[in-house]
Amino acid sequence: MTSPRRTFAIISHPDAGKTTLTEKLLLAGGAIHLAGEVKAKGQRRLARSDWMKIEQQRGISVTSSVMTFETDGITFNLLDTPGHEDFSEDTYRTLTAVDSAVMVIDAARGIEAQTRKLFEVCRLRSVPIITFVNKVDREGRDPFALLDEIADVLALDVCPMSWPVGMGGSFQGVLNLETGGVSRPDGDSRTFQGRVDTSPELPADVIEEIELAQGGYSSFDAEAYRNGDLTPVYFGSALKEFGVADLIDALARHAPPPRPQPAEPVPVSPELGEVTGFVFKVQANMDPQHRDRIAFMRLCSGTFKRGMKLTPTGHGKPIAVHSPILFFAQNREVADEAFPGDIIGIPNHGTLRVGDTLSERAGVRFTGLPNFAPEILRRVQLKDPTKTKQLRKALDDMAEEGVTQVFYPEIGSNWVIGVVGQLQLDVLLSRLEAEYKVAAALEPAPFDTARWVSAEDAADLKAFADLNRSAMAKDRDGNPVFLAKSAWEVGYVQDRYPKVRFAATRER
Ligand code: G4P
Repeated sequence: MTSPRRTFAIISHPDAGKTTLTEKLLLAGGAIHLAGEVKAKGQRRLARSDWMKIEQQRGISVTSSVMTFETDGITFNLLDTPGHEDFSEDTYRTLTAVDSAVMVIDAARGIEAQTRKLFEVCRLRSVPIITFVNKVDREGRDPFALLDEIADVLALDVCPMSWPVGMGGSFQGVLNLETGGVSRPDGDSRTFQGRVDTSPELPADVIEEIELAQGGYSSFDAEAYRNGDLTPVYFGSALKEFGVADLIDALARHAPPPRPQPAEPVPVSPELGEVTGFVFKVQANMDPQHRDRIAFMRLCSGTFKRGMKLTPTGHGKPIAVHSPILFFAQNREVADEAFPGDIIGIPNHGTLRVGDTLSERAGVRFTGLPNFAPEILRRVQLKDPTKTKQLRKALDDMAEEGVTQVFYPEIGSNWVIGVVGQLQLDVLLSRLEAEYKVAAALEPAPFDTARWVSAEDAADLKAFADLNRSAMAKDRDGNPVFLAKSAWEVGYVQDRYPKVRFAATRER
């Protein structure tokens, strides 16, 4: 018997407390034994390759990773999503591999820009969301104002599942609205030591608040939650470990197990006997000694066994997966078996790409892993012209990882790279130097955005491309791309060439 799986991600705006909450979840699941707290983050990352210096300097998380922990017979797979807005594309893709999400909100700040963007991605895929209002140990906004904001800004029904008894200086604990128990701060540090008051005496104003809240908001409806229409809301403090146990309990009881995944010719159910999965992330050079890379695959169906042969759909021969990796917090463990909802890391030399489907028998293809139109384009200027080959390899590698996109113009020799956020440019230059020993500079490109072009009739596409050769390029996979000077120009050419399709995302 396999234990049930909950594969989820935490979405939040930087500083809301995602790292702190992640560590408390892992601690609760016994995955981290030292209570190294946030500081452990730095040590863990020091071990990684040089370019990660950027993330240390800037204190942000550049890479996604996978953490697995178990409590009460349930296996939780937590996929870390880079929180910085510049890494949205990678983050979006990670959200295609989860069955649910926890949205962390700072009680003093409410819904912030990045939370909202990530929420929209979840909504596109109807990913159900549990909300955790964090930092109630500090002075925050009124709980009603927070609930109303979630409901209004995200157009969701909200259902409070717990309630803060006071906040900040007057904080007395968190009331669980299902059990009626209050978790109280205890001891010198005022952290939660497991003292739950089962028949608490509550101040009159809190009793009144709770009555209002229970009358004024939706009651919990599991189906509405799983459809992504309602979010249960928990209040707590990741730092002081308040409400973390309630959150785990909520994930265990309400969050959906692995769901059928969109695929062609038909969606793939986790019950399908055959092993299938898709690659949502590729990370190169995790170990500077080895030029290999890890493809992160979400298993969608079947029981994966070490040594199994899987075929990437569309290109190539079956590959035997002899040393798959499961991600147990800080240690990577070699997996012998994995089940739907699990993530396995597959070491390879560049055969596996983001968006690839892997299966025991070819014929299935998972859909819906998007490439996004870049918002910033730059020309790459090589400082040493003898390094052209290395540059091309580096750009191809990074395009394959989804760090940047690369476009090879039809005319001219300066390659163009595209990113969704500014910080990716720094990462690119730093990695070119550190990993590929290529010194390059980025200069403004005469383009602002890019669109993948296609047409039903190849002649229409050719006619368009011939007339716009100076703006035509190919992406890493050889697909035709139109580089536009502005969003306005995109609109203009769309009107003039109605038979050509201009896509801002490319599904792989
Ligand atoms: P992030 O990953 O979402 O960016 O947030 P992170 O967990 O790093 O937390 C951001 C800051 O908020 C940290 O403080 C952290 O200690 C604090 N924090 C997180 N949860 C809570 C909470 O429940 N209550 C309170 N009061 N603070 C919380 P920092 O000063 O930036 O870092 P540090 O020096 O404390 O590590």
